[in-house]
Amino acid sequence: MVISVIGGTGPQGLGIAKRLAIAGESVIVGSRKEEKAVNIVKETIEELKDYDVDIKGMANEDAANNGNILIITVPLQAQSATLKTIKPYVKGKIILDATVPLETAIGGKVSRLLKLPEGSAAERTASLLEGEDVKVVAAFNNISNSLLLNITEPIDCDCIIAGDDQEAKDIASELIGKIPGIRVIDAGALEKSQLIEAVTPLLIGLNIKYKSKYGGFRITGIPNLDD
Ligand SMILES: NC(=O)c1ccc[n+]([C@@H]2O[C@H](COP(=O)([O-])OP(=O)(O)OC[C@H]3O[C@@H](n4cnc5c(N)ncnc54)[C@H](OP(=O)(O)O)[C@@H]3O)[C@@H](O)[C@H]2O)c1
Repeated sequence: MVISVIGGTGPQGLGIAKRLAIAGESVIVGSRKEEKAVNIVKETIEELKDYDVDIKGMANEDAANNGNILIITVPLQAQSATLKTIKPYVKGKIILDATVPLETAIGGKVSRLLKLPEGSAAERTASLLEGEDVKVVAAFNNISNSLLLNITEPIDCDCIIAGDDQEAKDIASELIGKIPGIRVIDAGALEKSQLIEAVTPLLIGLNIKYKSKYGGFRITGIPNLDD
């Protein structure tokens, strides 16, 4: 199984790529520019030299073509253009979408959510890739890059996911659950991504207010979540 992170040169994508590579997955970091991905992967392999990692850098199109599971980590303003470039390579694949529709996409505040006509960024991904039989799962939306990139520490957070395909969510849960500390919680259908994505600007606002980079959250009081 090969995991390709589309837009994986940014902090969120690279953090996910490093964590999954350390967990033993074969990972591809994608970029609009192959050279950028190759150079970042070279630095990453050097940084992770104490681990046995399989990680490569490629253009987004090649990353999408060679990946079994795709993880989208581009800003909202890049979502449509990025998905257009990889659309020929996504047929039938599982797509984990970390995109959060922040107001910054239209010059607004990082701590405010941008309302989208499709409902959520993940639903927008599903809509933009309609007809390709992709299984979109919203994931990683509430896990900060600072936690992901702090590779020596476990991540004390829940990763809430949502999607319409149960098998895709089961595969996503198993994959994300390999990152130490993270508990994956299935919130239900893809429309729940509207609520999941909305938590992120709240966390960003709290981080700003209380001068932190590591805000995350845990659901408590629902014992069956751990079944
Ligand atoms: N950062 C976090 O802590 C965090 C947490 C939860 C969710 N998220 C979500 O994860 C996604 C990625 O976050 P990030 O902070 O890593 O983003 P980022 O650094 O702004 O962008 C990630 C990558 O996307 C590509 N990109 C940027 N602008 C683009 C444009 N205008 N057109 C096409 N490609 C562009 C770039 O890759 P190339 O130049 O290599 O193509 C860039 O390295 C966002 O949707 C964000 O809301 C982030």
